[in-house]
Amino acid sequence: MNKKNKILLLLLFVGLIALSSCSLKPLKNIQYKEFENMEDIDSDLIIVGFSQLGSESDWRTANTKSIQNALISENGFSLIFANGRQKQENQIKDVRSFIFQEVDYIVIAPVTETGWDTVLTEARDAGIPVVIVDRMIDTEDESLYAAVVGTDKHAEGMKAGIWLEKHLEKVKQASDASPDGSGTEYVEEDVNIVILEGTINSTAQIGRSQGFDDIAKNHENWNIIARESGDFTKAKGKEVMAKYLREFDDIDVLVSQNDDMTFGAIEAIQEAGLTCGVNGDITIISFDAVSRAFDMMEEGLINVVIECNPLQGDLISEIIERLENGEEVPKISYVDGKVFEAENASIDRIGRSY
Ligand code: AHR
Repeated sequence: MNKKNKILLLLLFVGLIALSSCSLKPLKNIQYKEFENMEDIDSDLIIVGFSQLGSESDWRTANTKSIQNALISENGFSLIFANGRQKQENQIKDVRSFIFQEVDYIVIAPVTETGWDTVLTEARDAGIPVVIVDRMIDTEDESLYAAVVGTDKHAEGMKAGIWLEKHLEKVKQASDASPDGSGTEYVEEDVNIVILEGTINSTAQIGRSQGFDDIAKNHENWNIIARESGDFTKAKGKEVMAKYLREFDDIDVLVSQNDDMTFGAIEAIQEAGLTCGVNGDITIISFDAVSRAFDMMEEGLINVVIECNPLQGDLISEIIERLENGEEVPKISYVDGKVFEAENASIDRIGRSY
């Protein structure tokens, strides 16, 4: 190679490096697997940027998998996944990155409800439709999103309250019928309830708290003696429950707004020398219904789990396809959830995938 060619080659090399460092610089948490080389993307595929809020729970893992398994190239999609690690500021950066890359659709599972208007206005101005999943956003401008796919968190909270009403009634009847008059703790007037709340200002925390409170307010003898956030994690759930146990010596019921916090709380209860669940000192109501929660219901450690269904991927892909075809889609679509009790856990879990 002569000197001139060598210089040309060197210039080309330097140019390529400069280009790759100023464009499409990967953010730390974004998987660019399918997006490193724009030419590699089949132009027929629908490119979706998905900002997941984090990986805090078994439920979240199942939700991520469901969406990743639905938005695959065989179904006509190319997915860019970003993990917000429980921080809205990360999610906002991820959404801006999607806008910059001119994706076709943006899917967001928002960690908290408020503070989305600015970035969603940017997406709308760029002509990119947004689908909100799992949790909701708080905005007065419905034109900022095309559709919502999730579960009804307020209804989930109400289901927890309705289950407790029925449970207490059953226990009371059993105690009234008992010949020696010996009853359980629920014969006493007051029912002391502690709540482990999820991430504050998230739809799951707001909806489940309000739904449960809407039932609790009808019962003068239900005392909600503490409510604090365990941030939907096992470690924080354990820490807050241990604190409750140090502060109160007569906790009758724990309402834990997700299974992971429940797993931590059970450890704290056992370490405090108490029992829980069916026939235990503390009745446990949980939310989600992941596989480990079924194990614990089978062991009698959890009384009931209010299901929040994470399998939302197929519905999301269907909605995007319909939007792509110019069809009208419902503004809000909810996936149904059931109530699973310890007594039937071994049967109810059959066929479940997470
Ligand atoms: O928003 C859904 C909730 O988020 C699930 O109950 C919980 O496990 C997750 O962290």
